[in-house]
Amino acid sequence: MDKLKERVKIKNIWTKNRIAVPPMVCFHWSDDSGCVTDKNLQHYRDMAAGGAGLIIAEATAVTKRGRLHETQLGLWEDKQTEGWKRLADAVHQYDVPFFVQLHHAGVSGIEKNADCPSDYSFRDSNGELRARGCEMSPERVREVIDDFVQAARRAKQAGLDGIELHGCHSYLICQFFNRNINHREDIYGQRREKFALDILEGIRESCGEGFVAGIRLGAFEPALEDGIEHALSLAGKADFLDISYGFGGESISLRPEGYPFSEAIYGAQEIKKRLPDMPVFGVDGITDGEMAEKAILQAGVDMIDVGRGFLVNPNFGNDVLEGRSCGKCLHCRPACKWSPFLNDG
Ligand code: FNR
Repeated sequence: MDKLKERVKIKNIWTKNRIAVPPMVCFHWSDDSGCVTDKNLQHYRDMAAGGAGLIIAEATAVTKRGRLHETQLGLWEDKQTEGWKRLADAVHQYDVPFFVQLHHAGVSGIEKNADCPSDYSFRDSNGELRARGCEMSPERVREVIDDFVQAARRAKQAGLDGIELHGCHSYLICQFFNRNINHREDIYGQRREKFALDILEGIRESCGEGFVAGIRLGAFEPALEDGIEHALSLAGKADFLDISYGFGGESISLRPEGYPFSEAIYGAQEIKKRLPDMPVFGVDGITDGEMAEKAILQAGVDMIDVGRGFLVNPNFGNDVLEGRSCGKCLHCRPACKWSPFLNDG
């Protein structure tokens, strides 16, 4: 596991190794206040103690109106900062850098008339209307950009090392990137990456150059060429790219036959080839140390995310780095929905 043990420099911080815990929301541990609870604290402390090289905390709402769930954690007001300070202190005790993923759900959230780049009807797989997205006015766009900037400022105040913008999986920033959703005629439609770039620029101005600001981006938004174009437009603006799926989910098949890793890792590989100096993360389906090491070597990514592997076994990092069995996660997605991680009250 020599490669996995290496540290990676992201801007001015060093990860502890090449295994990152990606953001994973845990509803039901907080309440409508969006404040951190002791259960959140225990959860992140366990994974920091368990050998994570970097932890990116779960999707955290930058405004109440942009929530995915009523009990989602938040950074939309100053009183929430105290809990984040406790989390940062707990994770830093183990020398693990700690970021938070900043999130606005847009039309994929709990609002029935939600913020969206353009008017858009979001339907479920049965064609039922799930939510209506309302085109944001230029003023509303500026307000939401500021919500992200203020949330990053609070994260910095709480002692976190950086933030990751949630720019994929169908949420607001992803909606701006995606040409099937964003039909705006103003500059935010002509340059679909501008929304994310303005947020990054605002964060840079507010938090300073030393604070890490990266983005989770869809490799397929909707096609790989779009994902690559978005990644290139973020070069020099974002400090890292965490590559996952876009609005269209995972129903893409571009990998060459026999490619041993996920579509998202294939996308990350293609993006890393074009941006060799940028830290790029790959994700999805890593179940053990050998696979993680191979993915880094073959795809050339800098960090490999292990999500469900850490939920099943918070000691995943230490176990694989020290050559022990890590207790395989079977990656049965439905099971995660019913697991104690999400539903233990
Ligand atoms: C997730 N995922 C996710 N992604 C994200 O960008 N923000 C989030 O808050 C969440 N929340 C979340 C919760 C739970 C319970 C799961 C299982 C997943 C996706 C996650 O970060 C990761 O991309 C996938 O789980 C695939 O990686 P693994 O699990 O195969 O290593």
